[in-house]
Amino acid sequence: MDDFHYRDGELWCEGVPLRRIAADVGTPVYVYSAAAFRRHAREFAAALKPAGAAGNGVHVAYAIKANPNLAVLKLLAAEGYGADVVSGGEMARALAAGIPADGIVFSGVGKTRAELVRGLEAGIGQFNLELEEEGVVLAALAKERGLTARAVLRVNPDVDAGTHAKISTGKSENKFGVPIDQAPAMYARLAALDGLDLRGVAIHIGSQLFDLAPLEAAYRRVKALVDQLRGVGHRVTHIDLGGGLGVRYKAGDVPTPPADYGAMVARVTAGWDATLMFEPGRVIAGNAGVLLTTVVWVKPGVTNPYVIVDAAMNDLARPALYDAWHDFDAVAPTGARMTANIAGPVCETGDTFAMGREVDLVRGGDLAVFRTAGAYGATMASTYNSRALVPEVLVDGDRFAVVAD
Ligand code: LLP
Repeated sequence: MDDFHYRDGELWCEGVPLRRIAADVGTPVYVYSAAAFRRHAREFAAALKPAGAAGNGVHVAYAIKANPNLAVLKLLAAEGYGADVVSGGEMARALAAGIPADGIVFSGVGKTRAELVRGLEAGIGQFNLELEEEGVVLAALAKERGLTARAVLRVNPDVDAGTHAKISTGKSENKFGVPIDQAPAMYARLAALDGLDLRGVAIHIGSQLFDLAPLEAAYRRVKALVDQLRGVGHRVTHIDLGGGLGVRYKAGDVPTPPADYGAMVARVTAGWDATLMFEPGRVIAGNAGVLLTTVVWVKPGVTNPYVIVDAAMNDLARPALYDAWHDFDAVAPTGARMTANIAGPVCETGDTFAMGREVDLVRGGDLAVFRTAGAYGATMASTYNSRALVPEVLVDGDRFAVVAD
């Protein structure tokens, strides 16, 4: 679901025609819907109510990496969301947006000592440890400062999430987490350290997941580990179940509705007697944004014409990186269609958004959008080819503002 809709033949975001944003701000530009962010946030939180009702605590930490725009973070802070951060920069943004320090989870496989210290000094809620040595270093850094770091150990459950290899994280060969069979011994050693309050375990098996089965399998493996840990007297009060729910990018995609995910979580986690933590990113941000672009030329091609737009791989990297599909729609479609290649102006062939795709007929000067660009869009932008960083606009009702920061 999103809040981009056609009215009188033109695409609007909430109460604002995209044409007006293009005229005021120029293109390319990311356009986000505040209403969509709020709705997605509420829907996800509501989906976890049954898990809460079944006796577990629930903490939702938005995975900032999906869209770290400060205006977006403020909006999610107002919805009561915590944050999952993976760098000192993301931590600073979360704090600047008013997300309470104790609602912040610090993930990341390569947190530097300086970042660990910043996290400790800011009093962030939880460090998700990626290896034993990180826990040893964190404990020492905390102890030196007279502090205690709350932490969980991220385990790698060796589950195939069935997603793109570059965004799969829960297979044993991936760089994330510690092998689940080694976790009990590590947990025992880390739990004994001064300066560390080891309170549970974490997993995250991948992103853009459509199938609940691998998630459920991973959760059951985690529970077996938790039982083992508790069985030898360890305290396990927090279990971080990660993020990963997929969204619809193209016709035929059937993402899991958050309510179905929530029902699975409630069923699987009943009786766990812990605070369950979640790190959704894409499901909150993906369909809350589009990349608005202008067609520069329609260039004749050998097989199909090339629609050259003013957005490029430096603005939206997903197609070049993951062969990702983003729907391409005219802002003012005529009903006529064309088969075309869609490409940007950057000087490499990888700067191609689609090949031989049937799309709305467009001409030079027309406006168009790449859909489902609210997550992993602007945040992955670069200045390659000395192109300016793409601006971002947040629409709220009939108002809009440039919110890039
Ligand atoms: N938690 C951890 C530890 C993660 O590594 C990730 C994503 C998330 C939460 C959020 O996952 P989500 O709910 O958004 O699926 N740039 C790629 C996606 C990379 C995701 C990496 N980790 C893309 O554009 O598809």
